Parts: sequence; structure tokens; C-alpha cells
Amino acid sequence: MPDSNFTWGVGTSAYQIEGARHADGKDPSIWDHFADTGRMPESGDVACNHYHRWREDVALMADMGIDAYRFSIAWTRVVHDGDGTPNTAGLDFYSRLVDALLATGITPWATLYHWDLPLVIQERGGWPERSTVGAFEHYAEVVGRSLGDRVHHWITHNEPWVAAFLGHFTGDFAPGLSDGGTALRAAHHILLSHGRAVDVLRSTSPGCEVGIALDCRPSTPASDDPADVAARHHFDGFRNRWFFDPVFGTGYPDDMVEAHRARGRIPGATGDPIPWDLDGDLHAIAAPIDFLGLNYYTSLVRGAGREESEESGVAPGPDVPEGYTEMGWPITPDAFAEYLVHVHETYRPAAMVITENGASYSDGPDPDGTIDDQRRIAYLDAHVDAVARAAAAGVPMTGYFVWSLLDNLEWTSGYAQRFGLVWVDHATGERIPKASARWYRDRIAAARVSASSRGPG
Ligand code: FCB
Repeated sequence: MPDSNFTWGVGTSAYQIEGARHADGKDPSIWDHFADTGRMPESGDVACNHYHRWREDVALMADMGIDAYRFSIAWTRVVHDGDGTPNTAGLDFYSRLVDALLATGITPWATLYHWDLPLVIQERGGWPERSTVGAFEHYAEVVGRSLGDRVHHWITHNEPWVAAFLGHFTGDFAPGLSDGGTALRAAHHILLSHGRAVDVLRSTSPGCEVGIALDCRPSTPASDDPADVAARHHFDGFRNRWFFDPVFGTGYPDDMVEAHRARGRIPGATGDPIPWDLDGDLHAIAAPIDFLGLNYYTSLVRGAGREESEESGVAPGPDVPEGYTEMGWPITPDAFAEYLVHVHETYRPAAMVITENGASYSDGPDPDGTIDDQRRIAYLDAHVDAVARAAAAGVPMTGYFVWSLLDNLEWTSGYAQRFGLVWVDHATGERIPKASARWYRDRIAAARVSASSRGPG
């Protein structure tokens, strides 16, 4: 990577690792409810029990020599009743974690929202309701006041497309609703709450850097046929541009406003404004950010005749020489490098950080207890190389976070999908670093040597 300030990290999220569902006055979230109502094969009630084993997890990170740890804060642990008084016991957990990270030389990067909305807020209407924006600002303020003196890197939201569309359109994720207009209102309020939280964090965490983690699904058309080209453009608008464009100040893309309207998701006639864009919302959503976070796993080939939200099982094209991960996702590092250049050229973020990248492979302990996950190493190596190529092409890449530190609860896919650099025995909680953890440690060390040998500038 180009300079010695490049940040190497790993990521996790609260519901996927913490467990301790009832500890210290934690309230239920929409994911607790999703599991309780049988919508998940397994729940996060125990997960990796990180809430109790966090010291061990910090030590594992220290052994890897990473610069930074991206974790998410559970809203339900730190604010009573969604928008009530701060829960000091919950805040203390994160405070201890942050202190331990800093004492170990690891920089904390905190995500405010990784999908675990307080159930009580959902019962008041959740993200489709505008009042949830105010509740989120309150939550951001509680967290900023408590941790903002020590946490200087903030991510407002993780993957708003997933929260809005898998949560409210396909119904695959919590809260499990299935209505296009509802999903668009949820998306708008999530984006608005991002912009408002940027301001809250700047005032409660002086000198901090704030960004958002957008998921990206680059695509190429199945052929030159105009129907395939148009289908790809629509998919890109549905999946990517609807979020990137407003965050970078150009508002919702006109073609997609009309496409959503044609599908009955936005009321009004062609050319009418969006009804829920009130009170300078687009200006707020475009609050300047210090870095753009990008979560990247795969890309796809798009042809006509697909449902717009359909992704799995999509034929990846004539050949995917690098194969698939166990999520069934095609391995496409070249598309990654190209997309980074595209994002840089289109939106010109001040800095770009890969906030998630990783692969699910179930390799477990050999008889001698070691875990030789060579396929994960190959995946990560190819994607780190793609980031380096983008950087060499002038893209302002400033960080890379592997998803994930630990094998954890992969949402509705349960514990079978393992993304960790560290194996977790979910019966006992035991952790075993995989070969990929050692590969990452060595990769980081080599990058530091090479950056320092080039000298400043
Ligand atoms: C992303 C999520 C993360 C994890 C990875 C595999 O969409 O942000 O929590 O589930 O996918």
C-alpha cells in the first residue's frame, strides 16, 4: 500500500458475536425478535459470547498485529427503551473494550448501526417512520458523549441497502417486511439519520473521522443486447446508486425515482418530487464525510428477466476462474479493483476504506488442531492485491478490514457459514487462530516494511 498510514484491521458486529442477550439491562432488538419468532435457524443469544470473552478477543487481535478493530455498538445495550435514558452498565462494556484496545495499540472504529434496531422502536414503526431518525440522533449523542473522547473513527450505518431492502422489501432479514414503498421510506430515513449523526458525532467527538459503510455489488451486462444493458443499469441503480448518489450530494437518481414510481412504490406523477424528502433532507444526507467505507464480497452478471432483488444463484457469466465461496458467491477480485476506480472517479470521496471483505469457508481443525484455510488466504490475498492495484491507479485507499475476526452468526445462514480468521467452537466458545490469521499478520508486517523502506511521501 502506498504509505505507512494505511490502516489494517478486522471487523465484527454486535449481534453476530456478543451473545449475553439479557446482560446488564439489554433490551430486545428486531433480530432477537426475528430469532424468537422462528425466522432464523439459530439465534445470537450466546453467539461467540464476546460480551464475556472480549479480553481474549483483544489478545487475539494483538497477536495479529492489526492497527484497528471495527466493531458495532448495540443500541439496545446503551439506551433504555430505544430513546430513553442512557444505560450506564451497557456503555461501560464498550468503554472497557475501547480502553483495552487503546492500551494494546489498536485503534477502535465503532459502527453505530449494524442492523439491530431496538424492538420498541420497531413497534413504533421502525425505519419507515420519520421519528426513528430522531431516536437515532439521540442514540448517537449518548454514544458520542460516552466514547467520543477515545473513539475517533465512526461509521454511522452498515449497509443501508441490506437494512432497508432485505429488511422491508424481500423480508429475508429483520424486521421481515415485504413492501417496496415501505423499503424506500426506510432507506430514506436511514440515510437521513446517517447525515444527522455525522453532525452529532462531530460535536460530541471532537476531531473525529466519520464515514458510512455502503455495500457494493458491481455488475456487468450479460451481453450487449440493449435489454441486458438496461437491466444491469437498473440493478446498479436499485442496489448501489440509490445510496451512493444522495450520500455524495446528487440526490436520488432520476431514472430510479421513475422506475420505483412505475412499480407503485412512490406516489405521484412522473417528475413529481419524492413525498418523504422534507425539510432539507437531501442536504443533510450529503453531510461531508471523511471516508467512504465499502463492503465488498462479490459481483455479478446481470441480464434481462431477473427480479430486481435477486442475487443468489445468478449465473456469474461464462467463467469464474477463481470459483465460489461457501456462500455461493463468485470470487471476483478484478471486478473489485475496477469498482474502486469507478467509485473514485464518480464520487471523489476524500478517502476510501474497505470496511468489510472476506470469505466463508468451513475448514475446521485438522487432527493436530491446526486449521489450514488456504482458500480463505487465496481469496484475501487476491482482494488485498486488488486494493493495491486501485491505490496504484490513484484511488485514495486508506484502510482494509477483513470480515471477520471470528466465526460468528451469519444472520439467517446461522453458524455454519464461517468467515473468521479465528475458528470458534460454538459449543464451548473456544477460539483457534486459523492459518489465515498468521497469513494476515505476515501480510501486514510485510506491508509495513515495504512502506517504511519507501520513506515519507
Ligand atoms: C455483510 C454484513 C456482515 C456479514 C457479511 C458476510 O453484508 O455487513 O455483517 O454478515 O456480510
